[in-house]
Amino acid sequence: MDMMFHDLNISDADFQRLVKFIHNNYGIDLSKKRQLITSRLSHSLKSKGYKDFNAFLEHLFSKKDPEDLELVLNKLTTNYTYFLREKEHFTFLEKTILPELEQRHMRDKVLSIWSAGCSSGEEPYTLSIYLKEYFGSRPGSWDTRVLATDISQQAMAKAKAAIYQPPVDMPAEWLRRYFVPSKTNPGEYTVAPAIRNNVIFRTFNLMEPIQFRLKFDVIFCRNVMIYFDQSTRDALIRRFYDAMNPNAYLFISHSESLGQTPLFRLVAPAVYRKNSAPARS
Ligand SMILES: C[S@@+](CC[C@H](N)C(=O)[O-])C[C@H]1O[C@@H](n2cnc3c(N)ncnc32)[C@H](O)[C@@H]1O
Repeated sequence: MDMMFHDLNISDADFQRLVKFIHNNYGIDLSKKRQLITSRLSHSLKSKGYKDFNAFLEHLFSKKDPEDLELVLNKLTTNYTYFLREKEHFTFLEKTILPELEQRHMRDKVLSIWSAGCSSGEEPYTLSIYLKEYFGSRPGSWDTRVLATDISQQAMAKAKAAIYQPPVDMPAEWLRRYFVPSKTNPGEYTVAPAIRNNVIFRTFNLMEPIQFRLKFDVIFCRNVMIYFDQSTRDALIRRFYDAMNPNAYLFISHSESLGQTPLFRLVAPAVYRKNSAPARS
């Protein structure tokens, strides 16, 4: 191992054009993250044979090689997440939203729930467990599939593999019911098929127009917009609005706020509800 590893050099101009590229295409604001860029990318660039950022960026921008792009996204997105994160959200979903959606969808028995920026899968699988707990005992077959999307291929690969070390606060009963212990690695579990099969993973860039088949009843987009600047955030909130059913719910994280908007009203901490007739902004 190279104990004397130094980050590769990035010039001001190259830093600016990489920041601009990421911002324009993915919404992520890295303008104050020079150190993060060099520390997260240097090792991989070096092992690919690049001597500095300039050589890599020349290649990235001229060839638009999907592999380079994937590397940049894998390294420059922050994928930190865990099961049952901000648990009050799931309690609110279970106690308030699901009973309401059950009534509203009594005829079609189809719910549409989206984990936007799902990272390595803990959030959509947590949703899938709550849905199973709630609808598992209901008569008739409910379609409660959760759409889960992200732009990091690395995070999505981990999500699809569904192998985790569940946290200590995972209820023992859920661990028994919804996780299969590894035969070889103690402490490691695979999410059970009933929970796994209820999540559909897709690569999706939140900067793109939202054109999924159904309008959403619930969108979780937690700890994603914190990386975006205000105008990117506002535009995404508008696209979410247009992609939601009347009165649908939008969850963000407790450390975020939608700010002043006619589109949504706050109904619980970090939980918003779609307004019916906002002024066009
Ligand atoms: C910190 S994780 C949040 C995971 C989960 N929602 C949670 O709250 O625990 C943020 C995720 O947003 C994703 N992300 C960032 N920009 C995105 C974009 N433009 N389109 C889709 N996903 C994006 C990142 O790849 C990352 O996995």
